Amino acid sequence: MSIVHGLDGWIFNKDPLFFDHLNRVEACHNCGLRQTGQHQCPGLGCLGAKVMFVGEAPGRVENPDLRGLPFVGNKSSDLLLDAIYTNWPKGYDEVYVTNVVKCNPPMNRKPEEDEIKSCTPFLWEELRIVNPWVVVALGRTAANWFGVREGLNTAKWKEYSWNGCLLFVKFHPAFILRFGYKAQLQYLAEFRLMKKEIDMWLKRKE
Ligand code: URA
Repeated sequence: MSIVHGLDGWIFNKDPLFFDHLNRVEACHNCGLRQTGQHQCPGLGCLGAKVMFVGEAPGRVENPDLRGLPFVGNKSSDLLLDAIYTNWPKGYDEVYVTNVVKCNPPMNRKPEEDEIKSCTPFLWEELRIVNPWVVVALGRTAANWFGVREGLNTAKWKEYSWNGCLLFVKFHPAFILRFGYKAQLQYLAEFRLMKKEIDMWLKRKE
């Protein structure tokens, strides 16, 4: 399904279920984040995508006042988008990208338990609407959401099964940036390897 550009620069999918979801996200005041004036940044991409990437929470630049798109507009997002576009050249036309929490926590701090809990129904909604076959959890917050408790150094080499989906865990790209260029190349190599595994798995499943 194609991506369209909306009125205020939003890019979204025309599916009515997805519009309902966006409206519910927009109306949400369930936790302190919205109450303190933080804006939301919902997920973006192809409904029916086979692969869904889940990060932690939008950063400051993903705030709709600036961009309003998940993982767009800073160096860590560039790294992730590099990793995605190298392997899935149609980008948002073939994958879906979202976060556990839809609002930017103040000062880019980690989302708190109650914030994660109140956003959880939205991620479930997205999982239902997109119905991916493969989920890639980026960083500890997302890994925990999907029930992975192992350290990421171990988890990043494993394949998990989650509700019938193949689940991968990778470090959050912001974490990788701390370790310089070599770590970024290694991250891209890990994504290439993961893509091969995903392709093999999808072939077996189709
Ligand atoms: N931007 C996002 O959308 N998610 C993150 O986890 C970090 C930056």
